[in-house]
Amino acid sequence: MDKNNTKLLNQIKDQVSICTKCPLHETRKNAVFGEMDYNAKIMIVGEGPGANEDKTGRPFVGRAGKLLDEILHKYGLSREDGVFISNIIKCRPPKNRQPKKPEIEQCLPYLEEQIRLINPKLIILLGLTAVKSYLDTDDQMKNIRGNIITRKTRNIMASYHPAAILRNPNLRSLLEQDIKKVSKL
Ligand code: URA
Repeated sequence: MDKNNTKLLNQIKDQVSICTKCPLHETRKNAVFGEMDYNAKIMIVGEGPGANEDKTGRPFVGRAGKLLDEILHKYGLSREDGVFISNIIKCRPPKNRQPKKPEIEQCLPYLEEQIRLINPKLIILLGLTAVKSYLDTDDQMKNIRGNIITRKTRNIMASYHPAAILRNPNLRSLLEQDIKKVSKL
């Protein structure tokens, strides 16, 4: 990655850490910018931080995150090498409620800058909140997952959120299929 882009990403990270654009800053412990590889070919976008992420300032570090890492590793991918993991919103909503529309609208420009600077070959949206926030669609996950679509010159795939898989283990093979497909690109 270009040194200047690294600098810009670090600047956004600093801005996010002190952001007060929406009320979620009042209850957060840490904003969660995302990690790790700025040279990532794949960017994974979840919904928003939960309790563990809020505590550590890192994305997907709870049970859902462990599952995501496990599936990524199975197909030769990892956040340390080739994958950048982030979220639609950077601060935890109280009691993990769904993010509200104005919170998403205030936060989305950070994600858009991250995408512009990292310039991944593919974006994976995990879960319907990420899908609806980024693609502005009402499609059901079962109808759209696993297909690569192109929007505003970006290649995008939707798949099941690992938290949904913890609730319904039958969905695991579908996320695995999608990650496997991506790993072969
Ligand atoms: N769920 C998400 O959507 N994002 C995280 O970072 C953690 C759990």
